[in-house]
Amino acid sequence: MQCKTERDLASNELMAKIQARQAHVVVIGAGYVGVPLAVELAEAGVKVTAYDKDPRKVDLLNAGESYIEDIPSTQLRSCVSTGLLSGANEAHCLREADVVLVCVPTPLTRSKEPDLSYVEAAISDVVAHQHPGMLVVLESTTYPGTTREVVVPLLTERFELGEDVFVAFSPERVDPGNKVYQTRNTPKVVGGASPACQKVATALYGHVVDRVVPVSSTDAAEMVKLVENTFRAVNVGLVNELAQVSRALRVDIAEVIDAAATKPFGFMPFYPGPGLGGHCIPIDPLYLAWKLRTLNHESRFVALADQVNSGMPRHVARRAMELMSAHGKALRGARVLVAGVAYKRDISDVRESPAIDVIRELTQSGARVEFVDPHVREINEHGVALRGVPEGHVDYGDYDLVVVTTNHSSFDYEEIARRARLVLDTRSTVPGRRAGEDWDHNVAVL
Ligand SMILES: NC(=O)c1ccc[n+]([C@@H]2O[C@H](COP(=O)([O-])OP(=O)(O)OC[C@H]3O[C@@H](n4cnc5c(N)ncnc54)[C@H](O)[C@@H]3O)[C@@H](O)[C@H]2O)c1
Repeated sequence: MQCKTERDLASNELMAKIQARQAHVVVIGAGYVGVPLAVELAEAGVKVTAYDKDPRKVDLLNAGESYIEDIPSTQLRSCVSTGLLSGANEAHCLREADVVLVCVPTPLTRSKEPDLSYVEAAISDVVAHQHPGMLVVLESTTYPGTTREVVVPLLTERFELGEDVFVAFSPERVDPGNKVYQTRNTPKVVGGASPACQKVATALYGHVVDRVVPVSSTDAAEMVKLVENTFRAVNVGLVNELAQVSRALRVDIAEVIDAAATKPFGFMPFYPGPGLGGHCIPIDPLYLAWKLRTLNHESRFVALADQVNSGMPRHVARRAMELMSAHGKALRGARVLVAGVAYKRDISDVRESPAIDVIRELTQSGARVEFVDPHVREINEHGVALRGVPEGHVDYGDYDLVVVTTNHSSFDYEEIARRARLVLDTRSTVPGRRAGEDWDHNVAVL
């Protein structure tokens, strides 16, 4: 342990460095979250090292070749060429760090429980190179209590919290593919492990984002993220159920939602789809449910939304079978084109994509499935390995059925409606879709 004067010196020095943009930041995890954050810091004039275990990513970063769609290589290259951004593959880069931002994955284990192994490994690397006067912020999504119960104890074995080590949690809100809201103009919630930690972390993020939103604790900041994504998962679950109910009522749910959204208050539109995908919305609510279970509480909405949303790919396959049979055809042996395998519009990320489950369900029903996606060349996920048909080579008229699973903006929906023999539109984007009987039209809904 250090004496009081040394500690004061360490914390004052850190604050002064942050304020003068002279703090050296190490971002651990150069993925969808870490790279945009590192670029934003470098553009703010802060020296950043993006540390990743994956040497290929580090090489690409150092060559100024972006592998994150929202960050053009030109933007990355100008950060690298100023010397403010570099990649590193070895943990000893942490020796130079004044600030560490942890952006590593937080997946689920096989038994659908939080897997904190990446966070623990990253923090162990920090501990191995820890020195007085460091700010460490966890940005990975996790359950309330993680920073306080897991991160702080490791970082305070040799150092005093709020005096020579500063710890905070700040949830990452990046929305890949969003052209309007990016790192800088998305407000950043920050919860410190103590008032001093809060102060230091707020000063850092003040350089990176237009608005910092302080909350009273790391637990509150962790909960903010889970509330945001649980809100989304539950509302998507609700609308997926309403889509099924609406078809029974011969009402187009998308038309209804668009009309409801004209209400200027008290309503926010969510649209049905083939299920949830990506690294966040299907997973984060389960972190919350797990934490609640440890406190003997049941999260009924999370469970129900998970049940409805994870049942959607099977529902899509069932609808495909109904639609084919209403037109006197069998799904078994039919040639089916799945349009869009990324989990959402205009991105290439296929992690947890419901389209993969739809392909598996259709294949198990005997269909011969191909896919087209302008952002994805091939897939090899959850036992589904396929190479896509290039968009320019597709003739929608060649297939017995086209299932629209991702509403990419480059698809020509007029052409799909015109050329395809039958269309199952899971994203409410194909013109002329009908919610009525399947046999009276070629474009049907969920
Ligand atoms: N992707 C999103 O849209 C998004 C949005 C908000 C929050 N999040 C959260 O942010 C976190 C990171 O997600 P992501 O999508 O950026 O993940 P990612 O898989 O794209 O990137 C994580 C990176 O961390 C690296 N890594 C793992 N362990 C490491 C270690 N010990 N040391 C160094 N590098 C290590 C991996 O090689 C990988 O490159 C997760 O908790 C996620 O839930 C993601």
